[in-house]
Amino acid sequence: MGEALENILEVKDLSFAYKDKKILDNLSFSVQPNQFVAVLGINGAGKSTLIKCLNKIINFDSGSVKVCNKPLSDTSIVELSKMVSYVPQSVSTGFSMDVYDVILLGRRPYIGWRIGKNDRDIVQSVITRLGLDDFIFRKFHTLSGGEQQRVIIAKAIVQDPTLYLFDEPTSNLDLSSQFEILYEIKNLVLNREKKCSALVAMHDINLAAKFADKIMIIDDNSIYCYETPYNALNRETISQVYGVDSDVLYPDDPKIPQINVLKPNRKDNK
Ligand SMILES: Nc1ncnc2c1ncn2[C@@H]1O[C@H](COP(=O)(O)OP(=O)(O)OP(=O)(O)O)[C@@H](O)[C@H]1O
Ligand SMILES: [Mg+2]
Repeated sequence: MGEALENILEVKDLSFAYKDKKILDNLSFSVQPNQFVAVLGINGAGKSTLIKCLNKIINFDSGSVKVCNKPLSDTSIVELSKMVSYVPQSVSTGFSMDVYDVILLGRRPYIGWRIGKNDRDIVQSVITRLGLDDFIFRKFHTLSGGEQQRVIIAKAIVQDPTLYLFDEPTSNLDLSSQFEILYEIKNLVLNREKKCSALVAMHDINLAAKFADKIMIIDDNSIYCYETPYNALNRETISQVYGVDSDVLYPDDPKIPQINVLKPNRKDNK
């Protein structure tokens, strides 16, 4: 018998409310190594809230979270930043720093007295991979929204965590950049040298179906489903969760559904 597979993330009975407004009600799930998990749900469903609970930005009300078997409650901020990197939904434009230095900040949890050659090598390789060489001496706040988003993603990657939390990482990106970033995330989680996984909040269900190993849909404060794209995305689910009629097609691969949205089908506008 092989060694038991250690989960990257284990969430048990997680609940959180803003004052008396319940957002997450008893969520339990786990994420295995080498998985790209897309988190879907309508605006306000709680995707960003869930991601912030997993990164200690929000203190949840009850339940437990373990990253690599270690309870979040026992993890210091420096330890956490070696295990988890987070790309928020909207990027602060407050940095009047060179892009290179913004990316280098991702190495901060590892840097002792001085920045090592290894840190600079890691930063340079990610800059090249994400096609950011032309930007490195620009001031971060002068970049376009999509360019800034790619820089913040680079910063998260050089952090070299076990768990990536990406909150709508492609929301500002043009069509080919969306693919490039999702390929990059896919390659990160496929890395066999270091086990890692990614939880990615997104709205584009077709890109989620193409790239994700599993799809989690948050609806009515709970996990509506947590399945492969093939099992998660069907006409009933799309109608119940999003309130739209759709056709589900399998144009390239019989396991990868692609959704053609036809029209809204709900008057109550849930
Ligand atoms: N600081 C806050 N105080 C009170 N309510 C909040 C706060 N932040 C978020 N909310 C509410 O919590 C709910 C969940 O918000 P959240 O940002 O997690 O949704 P989301 O699924 O990420 O939505 P979107 O797709 O629009 O990004 C929403 O109803 C939102 O209005
Ligand atoms: Mg959000």
